[in-house]
Parts: sequence; structure tokens; C-alpha cells
Amino acid sequence: MYFPISRLRRTRQNENFRKMVKETYLSADKFIFPIFVAEGNKIKREISSLPGQYHFSIDMLNKEVEGVRALGIPAILLFGIPDKKDDTGSGAYDNNGIVQEAVRLIKKKIPEIIVVTDVCLCEYTSHGHCGLIRRHKAEGGKQRENYEVDNDASLELIAKTALSHAEAGADMVAPSDMMDGRIGAIRSVLDDNGFSGTPVMSYSVKYASAFYGPFREAAHSTPQFGDRRGYQMDPSNSQEALREVMQDLDEGADIIMVKPALSYLDIIKKVKSDFDIPVAAYNVSGEYAMVKAASMKGWIDEKKITLEILTSIKRAGADIIITYHAKDAAKWLREDK
Ligand code: PBG
Repeated sequence: MYFPISRLRRTRQNENFRKMVKETYLSADKFIFPIFVAEGNKIKREISSLPGQYHFSIDMLNKEVEGVRALGIPAILLFGIPDKKDDTGSGAYDNNGIVQEAVRLIKKKIPEIIVVTDVCLCEYTSHGHCGLIRRHKAEGGKQRENYEVDNDASLELIAKTALSHAEAGADMVAPSDMMDGRIGAIRSVLDDNGFSGTPVMSYSVKYASAFYGPFREAAHSTPQFGDRRGYQMDPSNSQEALREVMQDLDEGADIIMVKPALSYLDIIKKVKSDFDIPVAAYNVSGEYAMVKAASMKGWIDEKKITLEILTSIKRAGADIIITYHAKDAAKWLREDK
């Protein structure tokens, strides 16, 4: 067969030609920028495991969000870093909790930004798990007591958290706990309370990943015992991802998230092609931290690598990209225009 390699090459060498045949476009319109909100005043504290990312106190948020807006990024994803934690994660669903207050303030000052909230208990529980813990007494010769994450008992608290975010003004809620049945529980509580128009972006396909390491340091949410393999997915599986998606769609999820992104491009592609629904990919803390560390060492070109990574996530099929690189990438995309 005749293979027109020379003509292909010509389209690559000429910039205008290259643009004409370009298939994937990155745009700041598709980014969601995660922001960590901490308690206190006048705080803008760099997170050591995530250079260039900060903990902000509520009074410092406006300026940051204005900056995000000015770069053409339409949405933020809020995480709360509370001072106090307890067994039931009560700070998560406190109407005057840190995220609820932050949402109220942002929506008052900058109503046009889309505020998405992470709905989970892990930042608020003293044990660091995403749900309630049921302990079984140590038996006979057993040294340590057993525990399990109580899926069903957690649902009510997770739904309560989502409702409190919606009441504060959140435009969309994003449950990340991976309890079974949480989308249905959230959907019905929202609907029953006048928030049938509030969409749910579900962390449907969330792997039990080492790439969350820097986030857990940032959010102080490392489990104090055990790990999250009981409720997050095994990185070896992809068919299971489709079952998780089906389940969440069935329960009323509007946007499906795959997380992490870079090691799971095949999953993004599969979810997008099998379901053809809006797909979000979370380019997580570990992916960001690796790029930052290597570029601070001068080993890689941060701008090129970042844009290449984000392009690959888009090319795989993500409509939305949640990324700590959002502000930098938006700047670079603007410069390159
Ligand atoms: C849980 C949550 C996590 C992340 C987002 N939401 C951590 C986890 O499941 O341990 C990770 C985000 C990242 O690594 O950037 N509330």
C-alpha cells in the first residue's frame, strides 16, 4: 500500500497546516482548580508536598478566586482543612463548617465562579477514613481490635454533607468517599430539599492509589489505621470501573470522574466511549508533585511536560480536567495563542 508519509510530514512542519489537522485542543474553559481552605485568619501557607499550592483562610479566598477567574478558569473545587476532627466527622456537615462558610463568601463576592465542593468525611474524621468506623472488640488471642468502614451508616452523613454544601450555595457537589449507594442517597436528599437542579459529579472510578500521597499530607487525611482498599478500586481492574459508572449513572450522577488521570488514560477512554456522558479526570496531587519536583531540579521542562500531560488527558476523552496546574496552564495557553 502506498503510504503518503511525505505529505503527512508536510502537514507537521508547517505551523498553519499543523493547526488545521490538530485534533485535540486544550482550553482553560475545561479546567477546575482545587483550593484548600483552612481555619484561621490571614493564612496563605504553601503546602510542602505541593509546591505552588496553598492553604488559604477564608478571608484570603477572594483574591485567589478572582485570580482564577481572571485566567478564564470557570470553576474551583473546594476542600476543607478543619482544626477539629472527631469520630463521626461532624465538621463535614456542620452548617457553619469551613467549606460551607467558604462557599457562602465566594458566591456572595464572585457569583459567576462555579463552586464545586468535595463531599467526604476523611478530612473531618479523627481516624481519617471516608466513612464511619465500626469496631469489633478484639477476640481471644487477637492482639488488635478489628474495624470496618460502615457503608450504610455513612451514607446519611455524606448526604447531609452534600445538602449543607448546596444550602450554602455550591453549584455542584462531588462525592469522593466511594461508599456504595452514595449518589442515590445524595440525589434524594437534594431533591427532597429543593435542590433538584444541583448536579452531582461523582468520583465514580476512584482507584486506591499511591498518587494521593501529597494530598493526604495537605489535607491531613491519611488513615490512622488500615487503608482505603476496602472502598477504592484496585488499579489492576478496568471492567469493574464500568460497573461503578453504570451504578452511579443509575443513581443519578451527572458527571463521571476518573481518578487519578495519568496512569488511567485507558479507563478515561473506555468510560467516554462506552457511555458518552461528560467525563472529568482528576490529575491528582502525586502527578502534580512529580512534575514540580523534577522541574525544580531542572530535569524536565515544566511548561512543555504539563501541557503534554494535560493534552493526553484530553485526548483520552476527558471533557473536564481537575488539575493543580490549572492556573499555570491557563497562563501558558494564553501566551501561546
Ligand atoms: C478524599 C479525596 C482524596 C483526594 C480527593 N478527595 C484523597 C483520598 O481518597 O485519599 C485526592 C486528590 C489528590 O490526590 O489530588 N476526600
